[in-house]
Amino acid sequence: MKVLVVYNVVDLLDKGQSEDLLAEQESKIVEEAVANSLRSFGHQVVSVPIRHELWEPLREFDPNEWLIFNLCESIRDKTYLEPYVISVYEYLHFRYTGSNRLTLATCLNKGRAKEILKAHNIPTAPFQVIGPPTVRRQLDFPLFVKPVAEDASLGITLDSVVESERELRQQLRFIWDTYRQPALVESFIEGREFNVTVLGNENPRVLPLSEINFAQIPDPKARIVTFKGKWVEESDDYKFTQVISPAKVSESLRAKIVKVAVDAYRAMGVRDYGRVDLRVMNGTPYVLEVNPNADLSPDAGISRAARVAGMSYAMLADEIVRLAAHRYKLKEPRPRIISMRLKARSAGADGVRAIPVGGFKADKKQSAPAPVPVAVAAAHS
Ligand SMILES: Nc1ncnc2c1ncn2[C@@H]1O[C@H](COP(=O)(O)OP(=O)(O)O)[C@@H](O)[C@H]1O
Ligand SMILES: [Mg+2]
Repeated sequence: MKVLVVYNVVDLLDKGQSEDLLAEQESKIVEEAVANSLRSFGHQVVSVPIRHELWEPLREFDPNEWLIFNLCESIRDKTYLEPYVISVYEYLHFRYTGSNRLTLATCLNKGRAKEILKAHNIPTAPFQVIGPPTVRRQLDFPLFVKPVAEDASLGITLDSVVESERELRQQLRFIWDTYRQPALVESFIEGREFNVTVLGNENPRVLPLSEINFAQIPDPKARIVTFKGKWVEESDDYKFTQVISPAKVSESLRAKIVKVAVDAYRAMGVRDYGRVDLRVMNGTPYVLEVNPNADLSPDAGISRAARVAGMSYAMLADEIVRLAAHRYKLKEPRPRIISMRLKARSAGADGVRAIPVGGFKADKKQSAPAPVPVAVAAAHS
């Protein structure tokens, strides 16, 4: 299949803190990993870096031939433009991997996302969105304060947990001034934290659970994943928040976590792949956030969960392409793509893991190679 790996290049940030660039520049690493993986699976791959302009770099490609592997998390260094990127893909009639504009836009705003989760009766911590200048606290301490529309633990430190009016105001001021947006204030969920990777569409499947190991942090209020914990490898925060995968959980807790994660994935309309972060208090998993188009870094949560499930990184990248192609076949048949023989043969999400790569070379007239035999397909599953 012809795949355009579209990713954003970040040169500088117009807000936040300079260290935040660490998180933003990850996209180049992911681009290389995805492109190499897809090549190893026989796809024809072209990478398209995006800086300020999206239309021009895409114009030369025929949307009927190319599927976009969407790694664009921002454009013009603005995360909130992530959904706009999708508008351009759709305007140009490209098909793309991952979630659509509405899902991306909703999940980007954690307050909005939580309203939707609540409407679906999916447990999530009670919350308020507080913008400057008035603070009318309705929840009891301890509270957790974060930017309402950032990800990758941006703006999250031990000060994010507040236990008094003074601390709350101080942290709100920090978020408003540094991130120039309202803050999401939530009840602090004290308990174990899990990352749940979900793959698929009609029948999403959950990969082995990952848990953050907080065992070396005695204070339960300090058991959080800070920015340093996520990105600065030399820091104690990083060393003391290692991930255990597969997580050791009882069967009943596992079942509860899987249900809440899949419900949340569905409620937000996530497509192809995503990660649900949650914490468990008094036996109930509370959704912290849903990450559509979640980080595909080779060392991040989804890739790790895939590895534990026996899928290499390359298989994961390939499966995301297959899921997207399958989805478009169901909804928007296009002759060149649909003549592939999509037959569910494996336990893969929606049964698409076993489609031979050759199956994507769909245009019978022009495709010289014979269809890949089923035996080859089985080797991938
Ligand atoms: N309500 C909460 N209670 C306890 N810890 C929280 C809460 N919200 C977030 N955290 C901690 O902050 C981290 C980052 O929050 P999250 O909502 O996942 O944002 P991000 O998009 O930055 O990953 C979480 O991994 C968790 O450790
Ligand atoms: Mg998170």
